[in-house]
Amino acid sequence: MGESGAAMSGSGEQLFEAFLNRHDDETWREIIRELKPFIHEVDRTATEIWFYFFPLALLRGLQQAEDPEQTARKLSLYGNYFLKDQIDSSHYFLYGDRYWPQVKAAVSELAASTSAPASLDLASLVRRVASDVAGKARDAESLVVGITAVAFMTLQQVGAEAFKSSAGAIRKSSNQSSGKSPVQILTERARDDSQGLLSLFRPDKIFTISFDETDSSAKFKLINTQHLTTAAANDKRDYHSREPRCIVGEGPIPVQCRTASCGTCWVGVLSGAEKLSEVAGLEWRRIKEFGYIDTDEPRPIIRLACQAQAYGNVSIVIPPWNGVFGKFIRGEKSMLEEELERL
Ligand code: FES
Repeated sequence: MGESGAAMSGSGEQLFEAFLNRHDDETWREIIRELKPFIHEVDRTATEIWFYFFPLALLRGLQQAEDPEQTARKLSLYGNYFLKDQIDSSHYFLYGDRYWPQVKAAVSELAASTSAPASLDLASLVRRVASDVAGKARDAESLVVGITAVAFMTLQQVGAEAFKSSAGAIRKSSNQSSGKSPVQILTERARDDSQGLLSLFRPDKIFTISFDETDSSAKFKLINTQHLTTAAANDKRDYHSREPRCIVGEGPIPVQCRTASCGTCWVGVLSGAEKLSEVAGLEWRRIKEFGYIDTDEPRPIIRLACQAQAYGNVSIVIPPWNGVFGKFIRGEKSMLEEELERL
């Protein structure tokens, strides 16, 4: 992707969308890898997680399906899996979310421009827009790069028209209202709960799992080595009325099987991945089959919460949907289709 801007003839949003559509999930992953050193640590993992939460291949597969609703049912898709329904909110867990209105305006302007961009290298374009927005906001470019990459992918998935016309409002997070700096957020993430004197009489250490850093009350306690979903189930607050995938009385992480069979409990690990148990064989196999991630990392940033045990404070993000689509996006037969062929 290192072509000169002069190579792109024509103008306007359609052309810009056509340019974006040259990029698939794999090329996007390479772009994020290239951008990573330029993304502030506070948003580095969050940006990667966001791209796992909203795979382009799934959207394209659904768009090309004869009957998208039936296909969604076949793939057991539940929740809010379309970016078009959450253009201004899907990235709430990025620190750079606070710059969304400015980033969105800058990306919309670029897309609508009648002159070809100076470069057709997407990573360079992301940095250029981030640098402009950061300059006007008098903040560091590194705090805007992640959210800018998110904006380009959002535009690619929803189209320029929808992107431009969404409200553009952002919810004010407690991180924003408390004025926490990126360094303060990183320091908090790195900290484990002090066990105090009580630990002399209590063999099991107690840790805190945060499941939405933008909400200071979005935390539950975990006894050392508990699985994330087991600990979450002790949080008896009402989550079902806000997120129907949450079972009443089972806490904030949606669950069904608790045996790595359904894919409901996937989460992004914003910090503390190293304080989770290593991925075992079953989780490896299933998380790839579900379509969430395909990696050799022993402690990846996408996990099945029913399989991951924690040994310290961890910060997670709960995606707004779940499904079983790995074989679908790889063009392989689903388990159900294989089963039917065997009959
Ligand atoms: S609850 Fe079914 S995979 Fe975790």
